[in-house]
Amino acid sequence: MKMIYILNGPNLNLLGTREPEIYGTDTLASIEKACAAKAKTLGFDIDFRQTNIEGELVNHIHHAREHALGIVINAGAYTHTSVALHDAIKAVGLPTIEVHLSNVYKRESFRHHSYISPVAHGLICGFGPKSYELALEGLSSILKSTGKA
Ligand code: DQA
Repeated sequence: MKMIYILNGPNLNLLGTREPEIYGTDTLASIEKACAAKAKTLGFDIDFRQTNIEGELVNHIHHAREHALGIVINAGAYTHTSVALHDAIKAVGLPTIEVHLSNVYKRESFRHHSYISPVAHGLICGFGPKSYELALEGLSSILKSTGKA
């Protein structure tokens, strides 16, 4: 099984009703469904997870080391605060794509710094739910071009 972990951080469980003018009206469940379909066309399975707890995201990243070829992560607000997530991604060494629904660089300045970007292969933001599918395409091409999938 060619597995990709898609990890979601705090408040993303509220998508659909959370600040729809910024994040749209799609729910996380519908994003998961779209990701599963996209992954299938690329020849991958996904394990899609959400947690509001920083340490659980760290555990999921560790778990990915044994069970996945790569990671797509929307760490939500922990993107801008978490050295622990930075260290976990670095420690695990899997190709990781950072994702955001919104264009964080168009928003408040506290969203302009990411602890994930320096340890990510790449970053996709600003395309709403489509950001996830673009990240899957990017990750798939990295995995295929490096002979890992
Ligand atoms: C977000 C952007 C973050 O700044 C914010 O804290 C989120 C969502 C996004 O997907 O646009 O929770 O990661």
